[in-house]
Amino acid sequence: MHELVLKNIDKIYPGGVQAVYDFNIEVEHGEFIVLVGPSGCGKSTVLRMIAGLEEITAGDMLIKGERMNQVAPADRDISMVFQNYALYGHMSVYQNMGFSRTIRHEAIDILHEKVMEAASVVQLDEQLNRYPKNLSGGQRQRVALGRSVVSSANIILMDEPLSNLDAKLRVESRRALTKLHQELDNTFVYVTHDQTEALTMATRIVVMSEGRVQQIGTPYEVYHQPENMFVGGFIGSPPMNFITGNIENGRFIADGFDLAIPDHLLAIVGSFSRGPIVLGVRPEHFKNWAAEGHEPIKAEVASREYLGNHALLYLKIGSFQCIANLRLDRAGAEADASELYIDMSTAHFFDPQTEMRIKSQEEMA
Ligand SMILES: Nc1ncnc2c1ncn2[C@@H]1O[C@H](COP(=O)(O)OP(=O)(O)OP(=O)(O)O)[C@@H](O)[C@H]1O
Ligand SMILES: [Mg+2]
Repeated sequence: MHELVLKNIDKIYPGGVQAVYDFNIEVEHGEFIVLVGPSGCGKSTVLRMIAGLEEITAGDMLIKGERMNQVAPADRDISMVFQNYALYGHMSVYQNMGFSRTIRHEAIDILHEKVMEAASVVQLDEQLNRYPKNLSGGQRQRVALGRSVVSSANIILMDEPLSNLDAKLRVESRRALTKLHQELDNTFVYVTHDQTEALTMATRIVVMSEGRVQQIGTPYEVYHQPENMFVGGFIGSPPMNFITGNIENGRFIADGFDLAIPDHLLAIVGSFSRGPIVLGVRPEHFKNWAAEGHEPIKAEVASREYLGNHALLYLKIGSFQCIANLRLDRAGAEADASELYIDMSTAHFFDPQTEMRIKSQEEMA
């Protein structure tokens, strides 16, 4: 049985704003689901509906097969970690972590055992008597996580729990969360606007835009098989380059572009031979060496960013601006555009009307 099911969920706030349209997902026990999308796309609204903090306007929400729409938050077997952690300033780390169980009047010895166990999981054994104001941001975040661990809820919901942390701590916390997820037997639903967090931690990613699900898939799928131009542009950094052109005699032609199309792609773009088509090229699919499927391209470098093991080139190609991400680990490789190629074997084509990626028969099947 599915741990969590959202079926045809709509959310219209009082006042008429529709924040979520027809949201559907079936979550297995133990998954790490990440909802990702730009600000205002409805991520927190979905999470708050799961938590029971927001009413569901239409559709069904099930936990272990039971309809939850009208069930009180405390009876849903879930725990939520908020962006600001919502810790109690007058309570110690120990008391904060045990709070949800204290109000359930848990036996003192069981409570103690749970808190000590959680403290060791989130590595706060040494800080149990401290107060939140005397903790770093990362430690506060771990108290909030520890509280969720103590609650033993089946589903742990997290709304941007890392956004208050500095860059280094965010990276460490990503790994700590992944580890925590592996150690616990819980289902995580996690909200972020950061595509890196989504790619690094999720077992499955839900990409949202303007209240609608754009794609649900593994990190590999949303990166390598984006459903549409939105997903292609949102997942991956720097974003995918989009070039609108035409197909002529098996080649992709646009201002500054004349590229042979490999057979596997040519086979699926036949119906676009008359109209415009959009080529999607990731920055890392620009190469500075010749190989099978690498098509030469003439580009002017407007500016460059050197990043040690790779470099970003901001290119002018015909009337298009593109970003290339070149690895610098090949002998003699320079971050210039004197010899530049596009690896067409990894390119995507999109329908300019629907913005959907054009798929092969195998993928459609
Ligand atoms: N209480 C509310 N009343 C009315 N509209 C709301 C309310 N809360 C959110 N909204 C609207 O619903 C939409 C989705 O908001 P939501 O908070 O779910 O977005 P989000 O994806 O979490 O964004 P962010 O990344 O900025 O947190 C937005 O247009 C927002 O303005
Ligand atoms: Mg939000």
